[in-house]
Amino acid sequence: MRALIVFESMFGNAQTIARSISRGLATAMDVRTAEVGDAPTSISEEVDLLVVGGPNHQFGMTRPDSRRQAAEMTTRPLVSRGIGLREWIARVRGPAVAVPLVVFDTRLTHPRFLQHVDRTSRSVEKRLRDRGFRVVATAEHFFVLDAVGPLRRGEGERAVRWGEELARALLRLPPAADQG
Ligand SMILES: Cc1cc2nc3c(=O)[nH]c(=O)nc-3n(C[C@H](O)[C@H](O)[C@H](O)COP(=O)(O)O)c2cc1C
Repeated sequence: MRALIVFESMFGNAQTIARSISRGLATAMDVRTAEVGDAPTSISEEVDLLVVGGPNHQFGMTRPDSRRQAAEMTTRPLVSRGIGLREWIARVRGPAVAVPLVVFDTRLTHPRFLQHVDRTSRSVEKRLRDRGFRVVATAEHFFVLDAVGPLRRGEGERAVRWGEELARALLRLPPAADQG
């Protein structure tokens, strides 16, 4: 079985999470991890699981303006220096079968009553569902202590475990219906 993880990341936090998820998935699958600017826009039907994730910026997916703001917050080069998930999703094409999809995001810790305001994972799910992918697990959120990081303690390990659980759950899924 094969998984493709596509991530966007400014300061490296979502990249760390993507790599941790990859370690978890790799217990049961072959995994390729791609930065969004290097990710394929045509998803092969050989992909059994697509995992997509990135940061929340201004309550949603990044935009060119928010990425410029991020660049001003650090002296280091950004991890994602070209397009973001928004632009990649606009170009992406899936195969005739509905490839299973799971989404994650990174975000600041908010009081619980404010957690629903960050829409990155919901937007990614909705847009990719519209392109024929099928969401097979609830999106997961990973927390940073400050905008540039670091990740909250234990988030990397939590992402590895989540990857392991996803792989186990995927092995139990019924095969995708042919949409052709
Ligand atoms: C311009 C900008 C806007 C942000 N807006 C939000 C936000 O609305 N909600 C939130 O939880 N975090 C927000 N953050 C924090 C990011 O979620 C955080 O920088 C990101 O998750 C870190 O992951 P990365 O290093 O992979 O980019 C913002 C960060 C930047 C730079």
